[in-house]
Amino acid sequence: MRLHSQLGHNDQAYTIMVRSSLDIQSRVDYGYGVRSKIGDVLKQCNVGNNVLLLCQDSLPKEWLLVVHQSLEMQGYKVRLHILPDGESAKDLAILADCWQLMQSEEFTRNDSIVAIGGGAVTDLAGFCASTYLRGINLFLIPTTLLAQVDASIGGKTGINLKAGKNLAGSFYFPRSVIVDPEFLTTLPPRDLKSGMGEIVKYAFIEETITESTDYKRGPRPLHSSLAENFANGISAENPALGPLISCCIRMKLAVVIKDPYEKNLRRSLNLGHTLGHAIEKVSKYAVSHGESVSIGTVFAFKLANKIGIVSDEQVAQVETLNRILGLPSEVPDELDRDELIKVVAYDKKRQGNTIKFVLPEKKLGKVSLDFSITANELAKFLKP
Ligand SMILES: NC(=O)c1ccc[n+]([C@@H]2O[C@H](COP(=O)([O-])OP(=O)(O)OC[C@H]3O[C@@H](n4cnc5c(N)ncnc54)[C@H](O)[C@@H]3O)[C@@H](O)[C@H]2O)c1
Repeated sequence: MRLHSQLGHNDQAYTIMVRSSLDIQSRVDYGYGVRSKIGDVLKQCNVGNNVLLLCQDSLPKEWLLVVHQSLEMQGYKVRLHILPDGESAKDLAILADCWQLMQSEEFTRNDSIVAIGGGAVTDLAGFCASTYLRGINLFLIPTTLLAQVDASIGGKTGINLKAGKNLAGSFYFPRSVIVDPEFLTTLPPRDLKSGMGEIVKYAFIEETITESTDYKRGPRPLHSSLAENFANGISAENPALGPLISCCIRMKLAVVIKDPYEKNLRRSLNLGHTLGHAIEKVSKYAVSHGESVSIGTVFAFKLANKIGIVSDEQVAQVETLNRILGLPSEVPDELDRDELIKVVAYDKKRQGNTIKFVLPEKKLGKVSLDFSITANELAKFLKP
């Protein structure tokens, strides 16, 4: 797989083209105001006339309007479908509604889904596009920090089942992802912080990615610049935010290019997620994805500390970074530990009787991918 990029390391607009011998073609368009170019992007991709436009209920209407208009100005026939907010969008019944809608509007394989919203919408839209007629065109317009740095990049799609998160899904690459940091100006503070949860994860896998891919690290480790640039809180106006988004996109693409189908290196992106998914599920999604990942990341460090891999100081360093960014580090007291263990045991990353964890190594920023633990051993750590 090759990565063609005219990538600015500052905050200039850019396009990254991703092509692979595995028939994967994708691109990322980044820039302030790039949202109004979606119609042009579809034209360049030479897609059919029908567009199913999926959007989250609480997304500010101004964002939807500009995208809708851009598509109509290029002559596309747009069928708007509003989805429920948050995780309720990642549901089998909602997926079936979208399939039916496209069928009743006689969508063909060259038609498209355009999804605007957070990671819940981009996940649902991706799964829907990958399964309708065995795959139609997909364009993603992520509007949350979390979706811009992670959920919309790299082709993982999915819906939730009663038993857990993302239990049905696929790998399916969007034709294009439009990343416009201006969307973040209307994002509630809690969602901005939640996005930081995934960014903290990137900070603590940065060395592994640098060593294993073409990704070029900045002069200072990401965890140090995060602590410094956001010491006074997180805001969409912070000039460090745009370059940070670009940095995470570069990191994720570098990993995905090496290992699109998560055979090995891509598993590093799951740091904090094994416990994180269980926290989300057991809290009935009251603890957000990013918050759960930040708790899960600290837990992975504590686990590594218990078995003598990382020092007390390193655990404290992760907790301090979370505190600076306003992220939680502790599993909430009210979450039933037995329930958590049960959900972790059903996690997709389970193999046989053991549960796989991505675990920090001695050098900060490096992780090992194959740490196994039994449910009983995990219970001892979670219920000391
Ligand atoms: N596919 C992947 O690789 C991947 C990676 C990470 C996370 N995810 C998934 O992403 C989901 C979480 O995504 P999320 O954190 O974006 O949450 P979300 O999609 O639930 O969005 C959060 C809230 O923000 C609102 N919103 C979105 N953009 C806004 C804006 N610009 N202004 C104001 N409000 C806005 C939404 O309507 C919603 O209420 C989880 O389901 C997680 O599993 C997927």
